[in-house]
Amino acid sequence: MADAPLKWVEVPEAQDLWEGDLVDAEVDGEQVLIVHHLDGSFAAYQGLCPHQEVLLADGKWDEESATLECSGHAWQFDMRSGEGINPAGCRLYQFPVEVTDGIVRIGIPQDELVHYNRYQEA
Ligand code: FES
Repeated sequence: MADAPLKWVEVPEAQDLWEGDLVDAEVDGEQVLIVHHLDGSFAAYQGLCPHQEVLLADGKWDEESATLECSGHAWQFDMRSGEGINPAGCRLYQFPVEVTDGIVRIGIPQDELVHYNRYQEA
């Protein structure tokens, strides 16, 4: 996680998100995927696949295993951690999330960097 100061931005799209569901949103110019896990916790990741930038929200989502399969080429991600399952060795960029009185906010680092990872062939 970056050490830069964070700008907390409210995400209306995530407000009424059911547990076990996910939604994509543009947050302060960033494409973000917000997951509301079955245990009630939230997580937010880059919204575009590290492979070829397909929208991850269009993928196949299994809320029980918290696994998302990209609709592009079936790469799979563990949405509890953002880790690549298949292939391993890639990871989604993760944004901090804060929920207060049902209002979901995402922390966007103010460091002028690109906040998503691309997969690098070894
Ligand atoms: S774009 Fe996601 S697996 Fe290829």
